[in-house]
Amino acid sequence: MGCLVPAAGLGLRLGAGRPKALVDLAGEPLLVHAVRALRACPLVGPVVVAAPVGDVPAVTDLLAPYDVVVVPGGASRQESVGLALSALPPGVDLVLVHDAARCLVPGSVVGAVIEALLAGADAVVPVVPLADTVKHVDGTRVLGTVDRSGLRAVQTPQGFRRDVLVRAHAAGIVGATDDASLVEALGGPVVTVPGHAEAFKVTGPFDVVLAESVLARRAAPGGRHAR
Ligand code: C5P
Repeated sequence: MGCLVPAAGLGLRLGAGRPKALVDLAGEPLLVHAVRALRACPLVGPVVVAAPVGDVPAVTDLLAPYDVVVVPGGASRQESVGLALSALPPGVDLVLVHDAARCLVPGSVVGAVIEALLAGADAVVPVVPLADTVKHVDGTRVLGTVDRSGLRAVQTPQGFRRDVLVRAHAAGIVGATDDASLVEALGGPVVTVPGHAEAFKVTGPFDVVLAESVLARRAAPGGRHAR
């Protein structure tokens, strides 16, 4: 089981003045938390991380204990995943793609995605129901309310048969915000497994507060990792 970790985002929404992957969470860079969460799963083999172009040496040093390959990322998430995919060693037939920004993903989510892949799925996404009511708008005008019962928010890791992911990335589709949507665009089947609140994406400053509080709870005496 290979794993690609797009971590080359600039993190502008976080406003930390450095790439998000290198922002500290409870004393360690976000990317270290993310890679450790993946390495905690014994079925995860080769890991390829796409790092910000200027930070490849620093990220390589940082991740030296975790046996990963670090490649320079691209201008978009999709491009970064494509570059990491090209660096995945041969002989790996199943691939996870995991956003570094979802650095606290519980092992149960990684395990559920892998289990679905091993059971024969072409493409797997972890999902959670939407808590908010969702409206369709035009500027500030509300056009309507979307029925949220059939909607899901999608997390990572997403899992793929390698040949399916390679075909999806070679299809010339632009602007995808996840990898499963590339498979969907080619008409391929994508299945869901349960995601988890702690697999949230660290995007803005509030998410750093949330992540540090999750880490503090996990580190507390008697604190447990999410299952
Ligand atoms: O920007 P967004 O929140 O969608 O980023 C999701 C993940 O994709 C993050 O882990 C980010 O580092 C990564 N990314 C990347 N290359 C880019 C932009 C984002 O690897 N050019």
